[in-house]
Amino acid sequence: MTSEFAVELRDVVKQFITPEGNQLNAVDHVTMQIKNGEFFSMLGSSGCGKTTSLRMIAGFEWTTEGEVYIEGKPMGHTPPFQRKVNTVFQSYALFQHMSVYQNIAFGLEMEGVKEEEIKKRVGRALEMVQLTGMERRKPKQLSGGQQQRVAVARALVKTPDVLLLDEPLGALDLKLRKEMQLELKALQQQLGITFVYVTHDQEEALTMSDRIAVMSQGKVQQMGTPVEIYERPANKFVADFIGESNFLEGKIKSLEKDDARVFIPALNMEIRGLPISEGLVKGEEVVVSIRPEKIRITDKNAKAENLFHAVVKNTVYIGADTHIYVSAQGVNLKVLEQNHISRLDPNSFYHVGQDVGLMLMPENTLVLKKDA
Ligand SMILES: Nc1ncnc2c1ncn2[C@@H]1O[C@H](COP(=O)(O)OP(=O)(O)OP(=O)(O)O)[C@@H](O)[C@H]1O
Ligand SMILES: [Mg+2]
Repeated sequence: MTSEFAVELRDVVKQFITPEGNQLNAVDHVTMQIKNGEFFSMLGSSGCGKTTSLRMIAGFEWTTEGEVYIEGKPMGHTPPFQRKVNTVFQSYALFQHMSVYQNIAFGLEMEGVKEEEIKKRVGRALEMVQLTGMERRKPKQLSGGQQQRVAVARALVKTPDVLLLDEPLGALDLKLRKEMQLELKALQQQLGITFVYVTHDQEEALTMSDRIAVMSQGKVQQMGTPVEIYERPANKFVADFIGESNFLEGKIKSLEKDDARVFIPALNMEIRGLPISEGLVKGEEVVVSIRPEKIRITDKNAKAENLFHAVVKNTVYIGADTHIYVSAQGVNLKVLEQNHISRLDPNSFYHVGQDVGLMLMPENTLVLKKDA
């Protein structure tokens, strides 16, 4: 291979003129480098530009500005069929009147591949998605998950270097979706080809991806591994979009090494020992972000740094975890505790109105720019 990157977008803009007559940057100066063999996801809510980005990689849309590279080569106006990529669409778009075999063979027949060769390749593709023996069925005679696998086999049969998948599991129920997530991930690892995966489901992205680009309004907010994105969100948007976060508004008091201090007016307290994030200055208004599972509930009389009082407002038991809603001087926070112990004894729960201490671990408490 000629390039370290299977796919690269360099400062790509896609502008649409909407029927209402407005200019819209559906993709707004996006740069991303997708490595060979990587499972890469674009994650973001509806309308953030995921499909448009994918369509530019596939060649169904041209860029307004910037360039798409596949294996180091600028794509310009290269048509889709001349790119070593193939797409699995959300709707599968299977031919209903054709059998599984014919659906998978179709693209190869169009290319004039010999019948013997087609047979071999369709057989191999069916094996990959574990559908051997179902060749003669029509899509209607398959379950949703099986139809999905036919769509994947149809894309794989053309041996693309890069597989583009646009919300391929969107139509499946939750249980099947989770199964297919693991299957697709295993298939990707086994084949070693690059997957560019589009989803609005954060759990799906975290489960499957080597790296994720979190997108919003046509822009990439953060790119990183699932752990980086969850543990070190780059801004408030990402902290809020991926998982849950509690936010406290405050102001930076001092910025000593490994001891940033932020004053929280609503709690009338200073949080100390915080790791310093780049680009923050003393006196700046910031947001302190803490995940619910990273707040520790302690005795109300405990003495420790970064400890403050709160009152329990509600507890919700949901099997594996208990969610505890508390109020600290009017600031509402959510705390999550895993149910390590049996909760059969009602006294094992915090009760409404109980006074507790809340402790923040500085290493799990992030200082983020306010207006990101
Ligand atoms: N051909 C078009 N003409 C005008 N606007 C368009 C066109 N295609 C997409 N858009 C707009 O561009 C934006 C991005 O659309 P896109 O389909 O990329 O979003 P998405 O992230 O895939 O969303 P979803 O999760 O709903 O599929 C949207 O605001 C959409 O309305
Ligand atoms: Mg889309």
